[in-house]
Amino acid sequence: MLEKDFIPKPYTNLVENGSFIWSSPSNIALVKYWGKKAQQIPENPSISFTLDNCKTTTKLSFTKRESDNNFSFEVFLDDEKKDDFKPKIETFFRRIEVYLPFLKDYHFKIETSNTFPHSSGIASSASGMSALALCLMSIEKELISSYGTSNTMEESHFIQKASFLARLGSGSACRSLEGDLVVWGKHDDIKGSSDLFGIKYPYEVHANFKNYQDTILLVDKGEKQVSSTIGHNLMHGHPFAQERFKQANNNLTDLVDILKDGDLNKFVALVESEALTLHAMMMTSMPYFILMKPNTLEIINKIWGYRKRSGSKVCFTLDAGANVHVLYPENEATKVLEFIKNELVAYCQNGQYICDIIGLGANKL
Ligand code: PMV
Repeated sequence: MLEKDFIPKPYTNLVENGSFIWSSPSNIALVKYWGKKAQQIPENPSISFTLDNCKTTTKLSFTKRESDNNFSFEVFLDDEKKDDFKPKIETFFRRIEVYLPFLKDYHFKIETSNTFPHSSGIASSASGMSALALCLMSIEKELISSYGTSNTMEESHFIQKASFLARLGSGSACRSLEGDLVVWGKHDDIKGSSDLFGIKYPYEVHANFKNYQDTILLVDKGEKQVSSTIGHNLMHGHPFAQERFKQANNNLTDLVDILKDGDLNKFVALVESEALTLHAMMMTSMPYFILMKPNTLEIINKIWGYRKRSGSKVCFTLDAGANVHVLYPENEATKVLEFIKNELVAYCQNGQYICDIIGLGANKL
């Protein structure tokens, strides 16, 4: 697929107004995306677990209007008007207008809410952009579908284009559509992978990874210290960037075997190394940042200690912030949760953490 293949044929239906609701999950990368080219094209492929509990639900209501040169929309978070969300959505609309030429023909009301606590340090951009892209695709589907004829949109095209659009809102959002493991970015060993959209991981996955658990420890609930736009830009001209992009490709190659064989020791090593490499890239960029907090390191050390003394396969991963995702297999859930409560919760802000599990993707409500 090429970008131009996402430009639709002229619409055949007139639709005056309506509304759609979608719920989309957040995701946590195992092999990280960090660094991009123009048009949100990733410098390296990435793969993520889809989360089941951290979700954004978005209702998009639309009413036909006299088209002018502007986008017309309002945004609400938990019923409260959020004008500060508008610039990001305006940018998103501008980027996707060529692929959704109806955008200036309607007034939109975007009502959104998250299942995870507001300002928890958990980024809502992936789940949020995914849910909005899906609502927009539901409108496009109405505009092209004539009931009783063969003019309908294929489910696979619907999801693929939603992922393509979500990517233009926030790169990692294209991994928040469908599937428990999602790959984004062209990789020679992964059939169907693309820089333009995420795909369901197409190969065998060992039972060890079924219902994999993720407990998110909220170490720092403040605003992100570095926006991901700034972070990605720091990879331009970064002295270690090219090696890092190669390493991510190699790690994804290795992960294909690990996922097939269910080798949890190798999984732990690869996932933790990816997390620390992401942070190492930020520490070695110019300007440089340390996004971990003292409690992030306390937690990492406690996890290593617990693993050593118990033989557990628990491990951690990190996003571009101080919170820690604690990953572990389902058969260790009771014990690891006990360990988390006894030893790790003390390092969380207000003792807050979120228990999640690998989920299957977005839902139409
Ligand atoms: O989607 P963005 O532009 O917010 O970038 C997210 C990057 C990381 O979360 C740090 C890694 C990843 O692959 O999700």
